[in-house]
Amino acid sequence: MFRLVRDRRQKIIDRESMRRSVLITGANGQLGCELQQIIPLYPQFRFFPTDIDTLDICDKQAIERFIVNNCINYIINCAAYTAVDKAEDEIDLCFRINRDAVRNLAEVACGKAKIIHISTDYVFDGKSEKPLRETDSTNPQSVYGKSKNEGEQVLLETVSDCIIIRTAWLYSSFGNNFVKTMIRLGKERDSLNVVNDQIGTPTYAADLAKAILHIIEESEKSNLFQAGIYHYSNEGVCSWYDFCLKIHELAGIKTCKVHPISTAEFPTKAVRPVYSVLDKTKIKASFNLTIPHWEESLINALKNFSGSF
Ligand SMILES: NC(=O)c1ccc[n+]([C@@H]2O[C@H](COP(=O)([O-])OP(=O)(O)OC[C@H]3O[C@@H](n4cnc5c(N)ncnc54)[C@H](OP(=O)(O)O)[C@@H]3O)[C@@H](O)[C@H]2O)c1
Repeated sequence: MFRLVRDRRQKIIDRESMRRSVLITGANGQLGCELQQIIPLYPQFRFFPTDIDTLDICDKQAIERFIVNNCINYIINCAAYTAVDKAEDEIDLCFRINRDAVRNLAEVACGKAKIIHISTDYVFDGKSEKPLRETDSTNPQSVYGKSKNEGEQVLLETVSDCIIIRTAWLYSSFGNNFVKTMIRLGKERDSLNVVNDQIGTPTYAADLAKAILHIIEESEKSNLFQAGIYHYSNEGVCSWYDFCLKIHELAGIKTCKVHPISTAEFPTKAVRPVYSVLDKTKIKASFNLTIPHWEESLINALKNFSGSF
């Protein structure tokens, strides 16, 4: 009897030690929370969700300790400084998190763990007239964009085992974002002005979270980590104005008139790319991914939003 229990316990320990360990940084942000939602669907991995209170990525020794103690095989870096306008004033802090802390992760992970790092369409200047490919030149126009661009460069210079996923217009039922703001303002106001000359594609963070874990799963199955830069957003193209109209339509908001305005009529501290549609051909082909259209994802998202605004 005692032997049976001992053998069963040993089997559990063996199975546990065979599971690959995945560290999620910035796990309380929009994308991090969406990843945490789907963790139970991937029992073959052990997940370690952390945020600044449990693992500050600016603290290199803490990262080192965490990775060694928990035998981390993959790091999904969702931690970032994301306050785009505030970054114009908080330049040092923004670079410390989006560039220097990424260097910490890269130096510690080198030879130990593979990194999946999230970047942004803001690395581009927005002057393109066709969907942006991974090979297109970057030319960030804001402090945030520059810090993320340098974060990418630091990673590529330091580690070979890294995947950088550039995404855009991220929203989720967690945290603050455009969808929640438009619903709140749509309920509060009779009219609203929304920019109509910035073109891109929204990304439902839940879709991106699934894509990231799919990539890790595929890498494990094929024993091949396809390092490099990839673009991911939902499919389709729209302006912020189009996006707002669809949000209001799906949320049943009928009492707020939405007016299209130009970027010039809505000045912001940080310059935003005018055109930031991402070409997703590479990520779809490399990982056999199907990406939902942004309208379909918005419908799904709003089902999960009820009660969160
Ligand atoms: N949001 C977008 O529209 C958008 C668009 C394109 C790309 N992206 C990229 O997508 C990724 C995820 O974005 P998101 O919207 O999920 O961001 P988010 O909601 O702002 O989450 C970022 C998380 O990182 C945490 N964090 C900040 N400094 C940290 C540190 N030193 N150590 C550990 N954690 C730290 C933040 O904590 P605090 O809240 O306490 O600071 C927050 O929980 C980021 O890389 C972002 O640049 C976002």
